[in-house]
Amino acid sequence: MADIEATDAFCHASQKPGMTSAEVLRYYDNWAEKYDKDLQDLSYNGPRQCAEALAEVLSGNKAARILDVAAGTGLCATELLKLGYTNLDAIDGSQGMLDIAKSRNLYHRYICDFLGPRRLDIEDDHYDAVACCGAFSQGHMKDDCFPELIRIVKPGGLICIAMREEFLHTVEAYRGKLEPAMVALEDKGCWEQVARDIVPKYYREKDGVIFMYRVLV
Ligand SMILES: C[S@@+](CC[C@H](N)C(=O)[O-])C[C@H]1O[C@@H](n2cnc3c(N)ncnc32)[C@H](O)[C@@H]1O
Repeated sequence: MADIEATDAFCHASQKPGMTSAEVLRYYDNWAEKYDKDLQDLSYNGPRQCAEALAEVLSGNKAARILDVAAGTGLCATELLKLGYTNLDAIDGSQGMLDIAKSRNLYHRYICDFLGPRRLDIEDDHYDAVACCGAFSQGHMKDDCFPELIRIVKPGGLICIAMREEFLHTVEAYRGKLEPAMVALEDKGCWEQVARDIVPKYYREKDGVIFMYRVLV
């Protein structure tokens, strides 16, 4: 039990308030080798839940071109592959995490880049879907990346975002901001909400929330 609490503390140290984005990404570079073992010990079910939610809405379109956003070591891709989705690319700001994913041969393309307001090296309307799991937490991704995600997904395509539910309230950058930013994009006609589901045991005993959006433009 003490070991698990130490692992949990190590995981939370990636989300310390005040860390810069560069510090967060460096933390993952250093964690990469041990990440999967630690997250398995911590009963991290998010990647499976995210993959299953996306697969349900993709309803059998196994050829769908999917970008795993903040892909890390590829836990979400591993689940998508089990479900028969093989047309996968990865993007993450940590080269160390991507190197682990690469060693497993999970994706076609491995893009090391920062998700934010800046334009990515990806053409417009390129993907059928985005899967994004575990990337919305303290010091990680913010709502400023939504327009770029919408740009790279085809009209009619899907954006699936899975995160810890409590972070909507406990993370200052999200409290009263993240969901209003989603709604504002819906009001502008950029995407529409398909689902907002609470899932139990996303991380240890904690609930997750899975947002599913359909891109309109
Ligand atoms: C908790 S891990 C999640 C990895 C994987 N999706 C999973 O569920 O196991 C968070 C990942 O987000 C990446 N990340 C955080 N903020 C980012 C940003 N702004 N741009 C790109 N990657 C970012 C980190 O490098 C890390 O690999």
